[in-house]
Amino acid sequence: MIALGADHGGFKLKEEIKKYLDENDIKYKDFGTFSEERTDYPIYGEKAIRAVQSKECDKAILVCGTGFGMSIVANKFKGIRCASCWNEEVAKLLKAHNNANAIALPGRFINISQAVVILRAWLGTEFMGGVHEERLQMIKKLEDENMK
Ligand code: RB5
Repeated sequence: MIALGADHGGFKLKEEIKKYLDENDIKYKDFGTFSEERTDYPIYGEKAIRAVQSKECDKAILVCGTGFGMSIVANKFKGIRCASCWNEEVAKLLKAHNNANAIALPGRFINISQAVVILRAWLGTEFMGGVHEERLQMIKKLEDENMK
């Protein structure tokens, strides 16, 4: 189950992503926002990411204007690894190297065709483990030291 979250800058792309997920029988839960009315990305980033933390969902797709605000919010939560992705290659690396359980998309800078390529890459790539797992363990140590 994928948690979805967007602000007004990501609303339209989120709606189009839902069509792609429906067509591919990928289950999701939409945590809003539900219109283009101006709002604040931390509200919807938090809702979607808490669903990943609680294991109600296993990953999250977050959309705002740049993907930056959403990724900043997501990375405030222990155990969440997220970054804004704008092409296929960085999306593959986000999974292969960082085992990201959330991806942020820049709704104002990519269209649905680009988003689909990015999501296919992220969803279809395996984590490489090895030295990358060692680095994730280093991040976990930082979380344990610096986050409640
Ligand atoms: C909203 O105007 C915009 O700041 C937001 O969507 C996002 O790009 C923030 O990082």
